[in-house]
Amino acid sequence: MTDKLIIFDTTLRDGEQSPGASMTRDEKMRIAKQLERLKVDVIEAGFPASSNGDFEAVQAIANAIKESTVCGLSRANDRDIARAAEALKGAARARIHTFIATSPLHMEKKLRMTPEEVHEQAKLAVRFARSKVGDVEFSPEDGYRSDPDFLCRVLETVIAEGATTINVPDTVGYAVPELYGNFIRTLRERIPNSDKAIWSVHCHNDLGMAVANSLAGVKIGGARQVECTINGLGERAGNCSLEEIVMAVKTRKDYFGLDLNIDTQHIVAASRMVSQTTGFVVQPNKAVVGANAFAHASGIHQDGVLKARDTYEIMRAEDVGWTANKIVLGKLSGRNAFKQRLQELGVEMDSEADVNAAFLRFKELADRKAEIFDEDILALVSGDGGSN
Ligand code: KIV
Ligand code: ZN
Repeated sequence: MTDKLIIFDTTLRDGEQSPGASMTRDEKMRIAKQLERLKVDVIEAGFPASSNGDFEAVQAIANAIKESTVCGLSRANDRDIARAAEALKGAARARIHTFIATSPLHMEKKLRMTPEEVHEQAKLAVRFARSKVGDVEFSPEDGYRSDPDFLCRVLETVIAEGATTINVPDTVGYAVPELYGNFIRTLRERIPNSDKAIWSVHCHNDLGMAVANSLAGVKIGGARQVECTINGLGERAGNCSLEEIVMAVKTRKDYFGLDLNIDTQHIVAASRMVSQTTGFVVQPNKAVVGANAFAHASGIHQDGVLKARDTYEIMRAEDVGWTANKIVLGKLSGRNAFKQRLQELGVEMDSEADVNAAFLRFKELADRKAEIFDEDILALVSGDGGSN
């Protein structure tokens, strides 16, 4: 077992499944490049068989990204897998992620298949995916609500067929930390060939426990991959949030004892970029990336932090990409300060002419408003003029 925790980002796939969060190919590409800067190990770029647009987005990302593995999702059938393989052809490192539901409820009501049929389909899917790429992930959808005996049989089979990662989703966010951690550990202990694959956790946030469940899957269960999204974007209440997992493992290395590849200084820009692209606002008190995550308002706290930052800060704002001494933007600010703030906010302008035009709009607003907040700048560049 490795002591490294693999960060698998699925903002562009599961995150995009969030109602209202669909992204264009160019938007996905911009976010993929930011994820590469962040040094995530695996980028799940999309679901190529779901639409031509998604196929093209995965293809473009696979061709452009060199440092991270690029992954495409597919149902457990030959058509989806072949489509994913085709989209990933240009990738420096490609992964096919294939899934089929294994819970009694999903098999009977949704798939209308018997457990034996599901078992067989999982086996053939992984076999076919392995004929296309060397790196294959298998997920038993609704795995946490599946019968453990059946799940063990399916997972043993797909590992024997060459699945290199086994991901156990809590698809509906039903788990609680201790039980989920024990569930993963039991599967690993009971499956004879379990050490041939890397174990992965994939938790949804319906009860607000996606991060806690994922960490329990790592600590108790021995998982070495976490699937997560920037800002916790995802279906319904979202997925496990990348920034929270990363900073928990990094800040509490004394407890988790795991290394990460992530370059945490790019976290805030990634958060801003995803928020700006999807229009999903990050709540001010959101851990790590919320506007107040490192703000000290009360006199006692301010006094303590001025004397010694550790009194009320367990991590450094600048380690996740906040500027320690934020420059307050107003009518006296220059173009460079404005441009730097755009970069900190994860806003990429197409040309210097666009920066100049945005700077002029900023100056007009600054004449009317004493202090310009980040929200004003984001509104300015998205074209709705800023608040008064
Ligand atoms: O939540 C889920 O079960 C999924 C799978 C497709 C991995 O997103
Ligand atoms: Zn999911």
